Amino acid sequence: MTFELRPTTDDELPLFIRVMEDPFGFHGGEHTLEDFRGVLELDRTIAAIDTDGAIVGTAGAFTFELTLPGNLTVAAAGVTIVTVHATHRRRGILRSMMRHQLDDIAARGEPVALLTASESLIYGRFGYGLGVLGANYTIATDHATLIRPPTAGGRLRLCTKEEFEEHAPGVYDRRRRQIPGAVNRADTWWTDWLHDREHDRGGASERWHVLHENDAGEVDGMLAYRRTRDTEHGLSRNQFRIDELYGRDDEIEAALWQYTFEHDLIHTVVAKGRPVDEPIRWRLADPRQLTTTDVVDDLWVRIIDVEAAMSARRYGTTDRLVVEAHDEFRPATSGRYAIEGGADHAACTRTDEPADLTMGIVELGCIYLGGVTPTALHRARRIDEITPGAMQRADAFFASTPSPWMTTGF
Ligand SMILES: CC(C)(COP(=O)(O)OP(=O)(O)OC[C@H]1O[C@@H](n2cnc3c(N)ncnc32)[C@H](O)[C@@H]1OP(=O)(O)O)[C@@H](O)C(=O)NCCC(=O)NCCS
Repeated sequence: MTFELRPTTDDELPLFIRVMEDPFGFHGGEHTLEDFRGVLELDRTIAAIDTDGAIVGTAGAFTFELTLPGNLTVAAAGVTIVTVHATHRRRGILRSMMRHQLDDIAARGEPVALLTASESLIYGRFGYGLGVLGANYTIATDHATLIRPPTAGGRLRLCTKEEFEEHAPGVYDRRRRQIPGAVNRADTWWTDWLHDREHDRGGASERWHVLHENDAGEVDGMLAYRRTRDTEHGLSRNQFRIDELYGRDDEIEAALWQYTFEHDLIHTVVAKGRPVDEPIRWRLADPRQLTTTDVVDDLWVRIIDVEAAMSARRYGTTDRLVVEAHDEFRPATSGRYAIEGGADHAACTRTDEPADLTMGIVELGCIYLGGVTPTALHRARRIDEITPGAMQRADAFFASTPSPWMTTGF
């Protein structure tokens, strides 16, 4: 089948968006043309054009900065809006778009690509590995108290949307630099988020906004949430749904959490897309009040340039390991790499030396952000140990705390 792949033009954007609507199941009225124009990077879109000129497939990417273990960042592409129209599915259009897009990302000098997958079977064949899990929690408010009260000082105050808009991006931007797996948020992301559209509310209220200020009056924490209204036999079943909760440090975040469950007439606090090692679990006097309702695959990581990616992060121990990586989708990436590093330095170069470990590029993506141990993948028969003891060394070497967290969907 022949079709052309190229960026969509601004004139074609309404047609491009229409192709995405059916596969994703949303309808024109939910997002306006201006919404898409605001967030999409047009030169990074891919339109698959059939011989009759019709757009039948779409893809795009955001230009991100990704936080890595060691709190350094690397340029990364955030792959998005991947669809193929039902009339043209399973004819290889996705495969062609993926190849085209990875070549483009490599040409832009971004060593890593990221995505969230609508279905988790799709992207392994293109070299993406599951690198970050996300967790959903509920906290029953009846007995929710903290074992250690927050020492944050300062004060919390409800604020207007405009005040939140002024301060929240700065709070987030400082915090995301400490979270492996987090990406920067463009101004356009915030503009879109602040629309607070009715169809994004899931039946809950508009957002409320809270800021935390230190004793000098500087904003160093923020919380955005929605509430639901529901009663059963006259008893409140209201939910407090956290949208955003970030503070400069753990004490400020604990103060924000405390605010969530110290609400009268709230039965349950709901927090989705949080890190799997969320510290509030360990701060609750009665940890059973917190239920993990779901753990899901959040961020898929594709290493494109092994040398650049591996030398950009920092490592849990000072060591040197030779990793043989196999890349079926981009065979030129296959090879042996000596990865050398520690807490404050790293280097990665191709080598002819014998390998300590062999794995696929998928597995290298899984372990890159420290969210999955090499041993877990070894036990699943996905990484092989060649040098005795190398697996244990690799666990310590690639380890990183806190757990990576995908703070921002895209
Ligand atoms: C997912 C989607 C983009 C696939 O497009 P497509 O053009 O039909 O895919 P291709 O024909 O290029 O298939 C490439 C390979 O992926 C596999 N594949 C495609 N979609 C898959 C799916 N949903 N689940 C499992 N495997 C899938 C194909 O079987 C094929 O496998 P092979 O390499 O072993 O032959 C398309 O079905 C779609 O738009 N789905 C709805 C929207 C969506 O889920 N988008 C992804 C957002 S993250």
